[in-house]
Amino acid sequence: MNTKSRIRKNPALERILYKIRDPATGREEFRSCLERIGEYIGVEISLELEQERKRITTSLGKETEHFLLKESPVLIGVLRAGLPLYYGMQKAFPESESGFIGTMRDEKTLKSHISYCALPDIEGKTVILIDTMLATGGSMIEIAEMLKEKNPRAIITASVIASRQGIERMRTYDSSLRIYSAVIDPILNDKGYIVPGLGDAGDRCYGEKK
Ligand code: PRP
Ligand code: URA
Repeated sequence: MNTKSRIRKNPALERILYKIRDPATGREEFRSCLERIGEYIGVEISLELEQERKRITTSLGKETEHFLLKESPVLIGVLRAGLPLYYGMQKAFPESESGFIGTMRDEKTLKSHISYCALPDIEGKTVILIDTMLATGGSMIEIAEMLKEKNPRAIITASVIASRQGIERMRTYDSSLRIYSAVIDPILNDKGYIVPGLGDAGDRCYGEKK
């Protein structure tokens, strides 16, 4: 199965990535940048999904054809920081069913645990797991493990910034996962933060968590 870990560079996307790296970018703009990145990633992922030819007759009585997705993937947004990215991806897949999962990473052990889960039926379906940051990879793996029990056809992950180490860990965990990230950063520090990164994505979106 195809394993891709970065979406194609383009100057419009680079400009948005530059903005989210900037600590001076405020909450509203930060969230809106994540949404726009979600649309880019969604379009990139859609190119890999199965399409079917659909014919349409216009009001001029002429037929033409377009290639549409055969099936919409199920979108799964990870709270908190994954929410704006999820909203952006929903624009690329407006017909998709959605699920939501809450995870929390223990700041000392860096282990994450699932505290909330609301999912549609995913058996036999392609799911896209959406979380803004992929740091150690622990959260994505914890969720993927739980999703696999429900027999999806394929799991695709979407993030804005991933650490190189996190991606390696995900590939070792399961080489069939299709991993998409707008950027891959080289360092994961001893506090589990991606470097250069952008800081705490949840806090940047919604304010500091106490
Ligand atoms: C952050 C981020 C991911 C997770 C990634 O969530 O949004 O969910 O850490 O880290 P990992 O790859 O090492 O597991 P956090 O627990 O800080 O919660 P938040 O989104 O509510 O801020
Ligand atoms: N979660 C974040 O929000 N930022 C990081 O750098 C790592 C995990």
